[in-house]
Amino acid sequence: MISRLLGLFSADMAIDLGTANTLVYVKGRGVVLNEPSVVAVAESKGKSRILAVGEQAKQMIGRTPENIRAVRPMRSGVIADFAIAEEMIKHLIREVHNRGQFTSPRVIVTVPSGSTAVERRSVREAAEAARARRVFLIEEAMASAIGAGLPVTEARGSMVVDIGGGTTEVAVLSLGSIVYARSVDVGGHFMDEAIVAYVRRVHNVLIGDANAEEIKHAIGAAKAPDQGDGRVFEVRGRDLMSGVPRALTVNERQIASSLAEPVGTITETVKTVLEHTAPELAADIVDTGIALTGGVAVLSKMADVLGEATGLPVTVADEPLLCGVMGAGRALDEMKRLKTVVVGS
Ligand SMILES: Nc1ncnc2c1ncn2[C@@H]1O[C@H](COP(=O)(O)OP(=O)(O)OP(=O)(O)O)[C@@H](O)[C@H]1O
Ligand SMILES: [Mg+2]
Repeated sequence: MISRLLGLFSADMAIDLGTANTLVYVKGRGVVLNEPSVVAVAESKGKSRILAVGEQAKQMIGRTPENIRAVRPMRSGVIADFAIAEEMIKHLIREVHNRGQFTSPRVIVTVPSGSTAVERRSVREAAEAARARRVFLIEEAMASAIGAGLPVTEARGSMVVDIGGGTTEVAVLSLGSIVYARSVDVGGHFMDEAIVAYVRRVHNVLIGDANAEEIKHAIGAAKAPDQGDGRVFEVRGRDLMSGVPRALTVNERQIASSLAEPVGTITETVKTVLEHTAPELAADIVDTGIALTGGVAVLSKMADVLGEATGLPVTVADEPLLCGVMGAGRALDEMKRLKTVVVGS
């Protein structure tokens, strides 16, 4: 992939640094990189060296020998391991740009709405250390809303719910700003953990997070089927009684019940934001509804559950996993018109 990208272009870029996935958009080229936010690091003689980034590194999670670590440098959408995140950003910028004619690019990076000044500075510094000429930050909810095509600059309220791997961001936007937002550390990863806990508790079998994610993608749902047990999935894990590997079958009803807690937290957060929304803006949202973005937007029945809880129309955005990076990219492309949406420029 590196060789395919090298020598092609050298332009400004948008980076959506997510807990689960990192995406890079380049003007005129679209999304040029979409990989899991995982870095495999080899430690030897007190020094760390990056072995792999992205999909290749994700395959190594839970399978590494002692001197190799497969790490997720982002947690709850913010940089948890600065040195590794910096290396990852450098790696991305290098991979995306033509080494020969490296012009230091303008870079826009997404940050969670709830992030602190210190956390934002660390993102900015990582991009600067990667030789970006100018670094802009944009709040994830704003980027997702733009990416979902909401009219964020108009004098009209819109609402976006972005459910990612680490966080759920709920925001009401108007006149190019976030009027009110809430963020909770509940997203796809928390759901994976809930599935691991369920299988362990009920079946006495330990499965890995990656297996849990597979189950979620295959038969996960935000609520149980109206009738019957729904779809089934076979999974393998280690039997905690006998200690040996074992296969077992789980069904949609069981998985939906294990996801009830995270789904409930997300629903409550959306309701809290609606309660804090001024009547005029709330009236606009009644008309236009809620736009759902992020990877968990495609979880079966997620939109239905939110619709039932709020009484509002809920629409899953086109390409919900790309909304953040596409919206950030548009903010960079149309910096004049969308100036107010960028923070700390
Ligand atoms: N078909 C699917 N069904 C359920 N969940 C899915 C599906 N596809 C992706 N996901 C989940 O979406 C999550 C990743 O979403 P996304 O890429 O939006 O997160 P992120 O932007 O990296 O995280 P954050 O915004 O929290 O930092 C993962 O937990 C993944 O398992
Ligand atoms: Mg995200």
